[in-house]
Amino acid sequence: MAAIIDGKAISLQIKDELKEKAAALKAAGTNVTLAVIQVGSNPASCVYVRNKKKGCEYIGIGSLSYELPEETTQEELLTLIEELNARVDVNGILVQLPLPTHIDEDTVIRAIDPKKDVDGFHPQSVGALCIGQPGFVSCTPAGIIQLLKRSGIEIAGKECVVLGRSNIVGKPMALLLLRENATVTIAHSKTKDLKEVTKRADILIVAVGRPKLVTRDYVKEGAVVIDVGINRDENNKMCGDVDFDDVAPVCNAITPVPGGVGPMTIAMLLNNCIESVKLQG
Ligand code: GUN
Repeated sequence: MAAIIDGKAISLQIKDELKEKAAALKAAGTNVTLAVIQVGSNPASCVYVRNKKKGCEYIGIGSLSYELPEETTQEELLTLIEELNARVDVNGILVQLPLPTHIDEDTVIRAIDPKKDVDGFHPQSVGALCIGQPGFVSCTPAGIIQLLKRSGIEIAGKECVVLGRSNIVGKPMALLLLRENATVTIAHSKTKDLKEVTKRADILIVAVGRPKLVTRDYVKEGAVVIDVGINRDENNKMCGDVDFDDVAPVCNAITPVPGGVGPMTIAMLLNNCIESVKLQG
């Protein structure tokens, strides 16, 4: 039976380290503040935003909350971002996605000052990651690297397969694994012989948004399996993209849903807020 990678415990460890860093910054006269913008009231976004604000409180940094109505125009949102870009007392700016359809997400992401882009979504942040320069890294993939490292799982030289190619998870995940000297394959919905590809993986990372897609016939015996999915199954129970009960007996280590990757995203957002002070230095 696989070891269960406890994302809740590892995220708490990271948050406690960040609490100390926040206190040291405060003692030196720097108060870190994250501005969180939500447009509309998508129920999942409300939960994420609440947890992000709670995270700030836990580690002892400030948060400013902007809850804007659904009918907010793109211009109004861009004006707010400009104001926050200019404020020296704001270190990080996070616009919760998805945005209402009348607002263009790319334009909004590009409007955030890359020095305050704690989500790591700005093209400049992504480009910096690609060529190994300093910049913010997307929180979920950064959290997965921490999960692996803090669980004592070696990455260098391993065959890693990332299933999913989103801008937020799949692509930056592949770049981070490459930075850690893994051999990396990105697989996706058009990949031929998908199971043959995923079965090569020593470390398999699944981020496709399809409940329980990955069963044991996708997994090499003894692999490490990281599940980024957050879905509901046929009984409305939360589940990942991996069929946990089917896969756990054949792998070496696996993340559960909930309690695996999820808590790491907020921990890494908070880490980026603390790191922003250096980038803005
Ligand atoms: N929506 C879902 N995940 C995220 C995230 O990590 N950041 C933002 N801004 N929006 C999201």
